[in-house]
Amino acid sequence: MRAVTWQGKRDVRVETVPDPRIEEPTDAVIRVTSTGLCGSDLHLYEVLTPFMTPGDILGHEPIGIVEEVGAAVPDLQAGDRVVVPFQIACGNCWMCLTGLPTQCETTQVTSEHMGAALFGYTRLYGAVPGAQAEYLRVPQAQYGPIKVPEGPADDRFLYLSDVLPTAWQAVKYADVPQGGSIAVLGLGPIGDMACRVAQALGAGRVFGVDLVTERLRRARDRGVETYDIRSFDHEKELVEAIRDQTDGRGPDAVIDAVGTEAHGSAAAKLAQQASAMLPRKLGAPLAERFSVDRLAALYTAIDLVRRGGTISLSGVYGGMADPLPLLTLFDKQIQLRMGQANVRRWSDEIIPYLTDEDPLGVDDFATHRISLSEAPDAYRMFQQKKDGAVKVLMQP
Ligand SMILES: NC(=O)c1ccc[n+]([C@@H]2O[C@H](COP(=O)([O-])OP(=O)(O)OC[C@H]3O[C@@H](n4cnc5c(N)ncnc54)[C@H](O)[C@@H]3O)[C@@H](O)[C@H]2O)c1
Ligand SMILES: [Zn+2]
Ligand SMILES: [Zn+2]
Repeated sequence: MRAVTWQGKRDVRVETVPDPRIEEPTDAVIRVTSTGLCGSDLHLYEVLTPFMTPGDILGHEPIGIVEEVGAAVPDLQAGDRVVVPFQIACGNCWMCLTGLPTQCETTQVTSEHMGAALFGYTRLYGAVPGAQAEYLRVPQAQYGPIKVPEGPADDRFLYLSDVLPTAWQAVKYADVPQGGSIAVLGLGPIGDMACRVAQALGAGRVFGVDLVTERLRRARDRGVETYDIRSFDHEKELVEAIRDQTDGRGPDAVIDAVGTEAHGSAAAKLAQQASAMLPRKLGAPLAERFSVDRLAALYTAIDLVRRGGTISLSGVYGGMADPLPLLTLFDKQIQLRMGQANVRRWSDEIIPYLTDEDPLGVDDFATHRISLSEAPDAYRMFQQKKDGAVKVLMQP
């Protein structure tokens, strides 16, 4: 089959690889009909290079049709239409039963001291072949795949794999009081959707921050009060501007939907690039143990959130020794919640919003639809935020 493979820093190629097959009784194989390109893939494209192996198949946002199931997957059969969550979880262990499938005790990558295995996401997360491919082997298929109805285009349901539960969890963790205020930093797919979810779940005012014109416009068109960080000399001024709108206190909650590649300090950018360029043996420990995160967005969140408010972090960070202003965090009594989205924890709550009325605007959320063979260009375009690219879907 054809698949999008990682070959090196900023080097993604479509290759022919062996077809996946059933290896365990709990496996299924699906034929992928659409599959997303995510901000998380961009981390692999460049800064997480030390954790990748040439040939790794990328991707973790698939919808498709079941081709084949193992003997221990009673609820699925060939022909079913399913969305597959980006994390692999058993549904049956203590963590899964607690609503934390990202910490699944059956699939945790214990050799790396990490949580549940993820599709297409470095050896830290199990080096599981990913979903930007014609076919996907789905381990733990007795739990993960979500059956969805025939009829609507893939776009209606595809975002259940990642974007929707991630945005949903970001808003739930933000714990905004009814009618309260929330600021979302970063208006990529995750931040954009988090704004929509916050509105749908009753936030009174939603502020959105980014530095890409089309992304700001998209959010503004849906009633978000947008701020372009390029129009401020310093982050302090942005913080003041939003504070002025919230009785001088700052919003009740701030979502960081930016993560480690924040636009900001040039020095941090250099350090991050340096560790991505080292040979893998040296680069990985360096990237893991030291601060290679660019923390501009998180620092803004800490400054911006009101005293006693909550920061909800969905942007991915990876450093082991990031400098944080604990004095401010403690003095302002800030609550900090974070993590990969627990997809099946939220999916049943989200599905009622995926109707013809389309309150979250999923049907036209994608800006680009491409074939698998165009993936190398799409990675480049998405990284450089060219051509109005916000959400790219590939159709294998
Ligand atoms: N927690 C999860 O389960 C989960 C799931 C999916 C994605 N993610 C992470 O969420 C983050 C966002 O993903 P995405 O797909 O929207 O990616 P993206 O890269 O398209 O979005 C990031 C946005 O942040 C903006 N930005 C950069 N610096 C900024 C700053 N200082 N202030 C405000 N905005 C800034 C960029 O212009 C961009 O629009 C990534 O870190 C991704 O890895 C997490
Ligand atoms: Zn994703
Ligand atoms: Zn489990």
